[in-house]
Amino acid sequence: MTQKIFFYPIWLRIWHMTNALMFLLLIITGLSMQYSVFSIRFDYAVSIHNISGIILSLSYLIYFIANFITGNLKYYTIKFDGFFKRVMIQFRFYTVGIFKQEKAPFPLTTKKKFNPLQKFTYVGMMYIIVPLILISGYAMLFPQVIYNRVFGIPGIVLTDLVHVITGFLGSIFMIIHVYFCTIGAKPSSNFKSIITGYHEIE
Ligand code: HEM
Repeated sequence: MTQKIFFYPIWLRIWHMTNALMFLLLIITGLSMQYSVFSIRFDYAVSIHNISGIILSLSYLIYFIANFITGNLKYYTIKFDGFFKRVMIQFRFYTVGIFKQEKAPFPLTTKKKFNPLQKFTYVGMMYIIVPLILISGYAMLFPQVIYNRVFGIPGIVLTDLVHVITGFLGSIFMIIHVYFCTIGAKPSSNFKSIITGYHEIE
């Protein structure tokens, strides 16, 4: 029998939709500027990239504050004791157990919205990678704030490197994230839940 838990309030769904759209635009225009893969006019790509980056940063600010105010942050807190072991158990489930029809090792409940691997990647992405993408992006929008040299390396090169590496990691996260979202009660269940707010469990 399937059961439904309300996991995603409206503010979170609007944030997630904005965030996903802006991320897509940033990846497309970013790749277009770096490798000319999408044949978008360079000046258009720059403008779309800058505007999407600003919208992404504003939506991030709302997400960051709302996570505190609404209590959603409790799902992101990590108990370090044995955490890595739990992540590995979940990883084994995704790579081996799931193909043997084993039961999920950390079933979701009203108190546990994320399994340990989700928690690890969401915390890493939302509290390390996204802030680094945004800070390095703003620094390149206002390059006068960048130090001339850091450890003998030109500051602008270092900032660009941070932006490109974190942007690349963010893009990899998004591909893996969307793939893992297909692992639910049905392949479409998790996509429905981020639209309706209700997560289906069996
Ligand atoms: C087309 C792109 C995307 C799709 C289809 C998608 C899909 C989903 C789905 C179905 C969920 C709910 C299931 C779950 O918790 O695993 C979810 C949650 C989440 N997604 Fe995405 N996502 C996308 C892009 C992104 C991006 C770019 C980020 C981060 C930069 C992101 C971060 C998150 C976070 C943090 C949650 C959990 C939110 C919470 O409940 O607090 N997603 N996503």
